[in-house]
Amino acid sequence: MPAPSAPQPRPPAHELDPRARLVVLVSGAGTNLAALLAAHAAADYPARVVAVVSDRADAGGLDVARGAGVPTVVVAPGDFPDRQAWDAGLARAVDVAHPAWVVCAGFMRILGPAFLARFGGRVINTHPALLPSFPGAHAVRDALAHGVAVTGCTVHVVDAGVDTGPILAQRAVDVRPEDDEPALHERIKAVERELLVDSVARIARHGLVVDGHRARIGG
Ligand code: GRF
Repeated sequence: MPAPSAPQPRPPAHELDPRARLVVLVSGAGTNLAALLAAHAAADYPARVVAVVSDRADAGGLDVARGAGVPTVVVAPGDFPDRQAWDAGLARAVDVAHPAWVVCAGFMRILGPAFLARFGGRVINTHPALLPSFPGAHAVRDALAHGVAVTGCTVHVVDAGVDTGPILAQRAVDVRPEDDEPALHERIKAVERELLVDSVARIARHGLVVDGHRARIGG
């Protein structure tokens, strides 16, 4: 008769969580991150934030993550000899958390070749304009300056360009005559948070299909 085996230690509860692992990249206040964290607090949300990585030690999003008990890492370009080394360092830091998906939520840097070689096709970004209109860091200002009547937000797959990757979801926001940049951005962000939380849930449940410049959620 075989000797009875010793009882196996149970893995910690978080290791048993089958939900899709998210690493969120932030540079700013982290209100989109906060929306994802609020969503993942519900057991039936199909993804959970396992780490938050920032390029800036002073990003408010890091405090948001710490408040939710999520591990944080800062990978600042100034700590690396050049852009390529920073990009590789960022990829290593994200890799440690074994993400299924990487979510750029107000991350204000371009991801480079090393990062995309490791995670390409699994990185999504949220942008405060209806792409392909108004890519770049000043999307809300640029939309206002152009005099558009409607702008909005876009969730897209990240490629090597600046906000050029395949579009997954968009929502429109009307521009009001009295709008300035902060007022319009706040209204966009309210819609953007919902769109991001919903898109991430659908991606976690159904995956992504990327075909050239077209992408859709689900197989
Ligand atoms: C969002 O509107 C995002 O699309 C843009 O910057 C804003 C970040 O907001 N790139 P927050 O840091 O999530 O509050």
